Amino acid sequence: MGVYGDHVLPRIINGVCNMKVAREQRARVCEGLSGEVVEIGFGSGLNIPFYPAAVTSVDAVEPADVGWKLARKRLDAATVPVQRSGLDGQSLPFGDDTFDAALSTWTMCTIPDLDAALRELRRVLKPGGRLHFVEHGLAPDPPVQRWQHRLEPVQKRVFGGCHLTRPIVDLLTGAGFTIAEVDVFYEEGAPKVVGANSLGVAVSPD
Ligand SMILES: C[S@@+](CC[C@H](N)C(=O)[O-])C[C@H]1O[C@@H](n2cnc3c(N)ncnc32)[C@H](O)[C@@H]1O
Repeated sequence: MGVYGDHVLPRIINGVCNMKVAREQRARVCEGLSGEVVEIGFGSGLNIPFYPAAVTSVDAVEPADVGWKLARKRLDAATVPVQRSGLDGQSLPFGDDTFDAALSTWTMCTIPDLDAALRELRRVLKPGGRLHFVEHGLAPDPPVQRWQHRLEPVQKRVFGGCHLTRPIVDLLTGAGFTIAEVDVFYEEGAPKVVGANSLGVAVSPD
């Protein structure tokens, strides 16, 4: 990706994604996680402080080496074993039916082939396994959607392939997940084009 994508962008994400408003959503989305968890798009480990005690291990999937380095202090303080187990959510190096739960926070916007990643999550989750997610995506309001379509090419260039217009809930149900709970809202303090969030739990079929 070059110097910007490999070194600068992960540091920008580490700062922007660690704001109070994001931390509040991390606390909400991690609530109820338990057992063996796979986290796709681990970034710099900003969810580590929010893993509940019921989580027994986290397998982290993250392509950016710098993200992993920026996670060092949080990893040292982690109360749950966390290991970097993979580099690409589109091709997970785990057997079928491995995990009790999965976690994805602001990652589904960036994975190039999200359908492939969702298929992989379904494969590695045990039947009935729960995918906890908070993601930004296509806004509920058409005027905001129009701006999202206009700005998406720039967003993708500046933020490492980040899409603004992915209909997260539709993509999850299209991939065969059942939505157990979801809250769709505009993030406080963020421009609506990047702050149309969906936070919830999707369940892999039995
Ligand atoms: C906006 S950041 C969010 C990081 C982290 N989840 C958080 O909440 O702070 C998107 C993350 O997705 C990662 N990513 C990009 N392509 C990916 C892929 N194919 N598989 C897994 N993660 C990917 C990026 O490296 C980046 O860490």
